[in-house]
Amino acid sequence: MDPVVQVDQAEQAAGQVRGDILVVEDTPASLQLLSRLLTDAGYRVREAPNGELALWSAQAQAPDLVLLDIRMPGIDGYEVCSRLKKMPGLDEVPVIFLSAHSDTDDKLRGFEVGGVDFISKPFQFEEVNARVMAHLKIRRLQQQLAAHNDLLQRESRLRLAEIAHMNRNASASVYCAALVHELNQPLAAIMSNAEAAELFMRMSPPALGEVAEILTDIQRDDRRASELIQRMRELLKKSDPVAQALDLNEAVRQMAALLGSEARMRKVLLETELAPQALTVSADPVQLQQILINLVLNGMDAMGQVVAEPAGGERSVTLCTRRGQAGPGSAGMAEVLVSDRGCGFGANQERLFESFFTTKAHGMGLGLSIAAAIVHAHGGRIWALDNPGGGATVGFALPLAQDREALENP
Ligand SMILES: Nc1ncnc2c1ncn2[C@@H]1O[C@H](COP(=O)(O)OP(=O)(O)OP(=O)(O)O)[C@@H](O)[C@H]1O
Ligand SMILES: [Mg+2]
Repeated sequence: MDPVVQVDQAEQAAGQVRGDILVVEDTPASLQLLSRLLTDAGYRVREAPNGELALWSAQAQAPDLVLLDIRMPGIDGYEVCSRLKKMPGLDEVPVIFLSAHSDTDDKLRGFEVGGVDFISKPFQFEEVNARVMAHLKIRRLQQQLAAHNDLLQRESRLRLAEIAHMNRNASASVYCAALVHELNQPLAAIMSNAEAAELFMRMSPPALGEVAEILTDIQRDDRRASELIQRMRELLKKSDPVAQALDLNEAVRQMAALLGSEARMRKVLLETELAPQALTVSADPVQLQQILINLVLNGMDAMGQVVAEPAGGERSVTLCTRRGQAGPGSAGMAEVLVSDRGCGFGANQERLFESFFTTKAHGMGLGLSIAAAIVHAHGGRIWALDNPGGGATVGFALPLAQDREALENP
């Protein structure tokens, strides 16, 4: 037996309504007959004697399917169908036309306005029932598929967020180590200032002017320490990205300062070459840090571990910023290039941006794919090239904020 019919009979046996059908027909006798046959077959039926009432009834409650006469006084079936297709929530409801004419032009017009099928009058009820059943089934399957797709999309977004957070924690641990190191400096300054203040207070008369100055310094250092802790918090917490106007030069400068101790430990020279003018982009600062950390760490990894003192300039990572160079897609962009003098990409070039592609014993293979996802979400581009003289460069470009504004409001 046809599986559709099988399922259908099972539904009927379970006493379930087979679907809510709106029948639109101006001839009272036809309307009543169709309505009775459909009700007997287990459908819930609503009747509408003309187009206006049909639209009103459909809007009040969306039916599962519409059987629609074409020739009616007032608005005809084509018009009813094309209006239904423009109404939110009703655009997907299948419409089957009932027509006394089986003219091809009539049918074409019906399909054009969004109908799914035709039944010629006078009709055989078996045919009506078979077509109604088939279209209800298709509609249900479409709905299930859409719900399933939705679920999959939600799940994959969630996973990406989890993975991005995992990578952030991994890069954050290096960053936090650097921040902790940085914290030493304001804390040490506060301590020595406090000791000095104590001495000034013991003098007779106490040197209150000096003490006041020292207190100002202590406050400044305390603020600096709080900022560092705040940054660590931001990096570790799971929060939605928020874009703000920021200067790429400043972001790169901060990152270089903070990764300085990590670089010294790995005996790598971390240098910056910043564009002379500010490069204002609209970006989430924490995500931007995440890109930069991943790229700098990759550059350092590419040069391996050294035990002996490095030879001058051989082990360096350079962070360079500039306005987009003339060329396709570069105008109105600001670029950051992270270059190293390591092993280069070689044969891995093709796979760098694949998630989970890694050549490192303890790598997750996520750094570059996450950097790429963030760059793309900001409307930018990212690329990777081997340097002619050895080593590799990963660059990314983000739209300059002023240029974007100028484009949007010329
Ligand atoms: N600067 C570079 N020089 C040479 N090879 C690189 C460089 N950057 C990335 N690669 C190659 O690309 C691979 C993928 O890099 P990616 O940052 O995505 O992951 P990973 O560094 O291996 O692990 P993690 O998830 O911890 O960052 C690396 O394993 C390495 O083989
Ligand atoms: Mg990496």
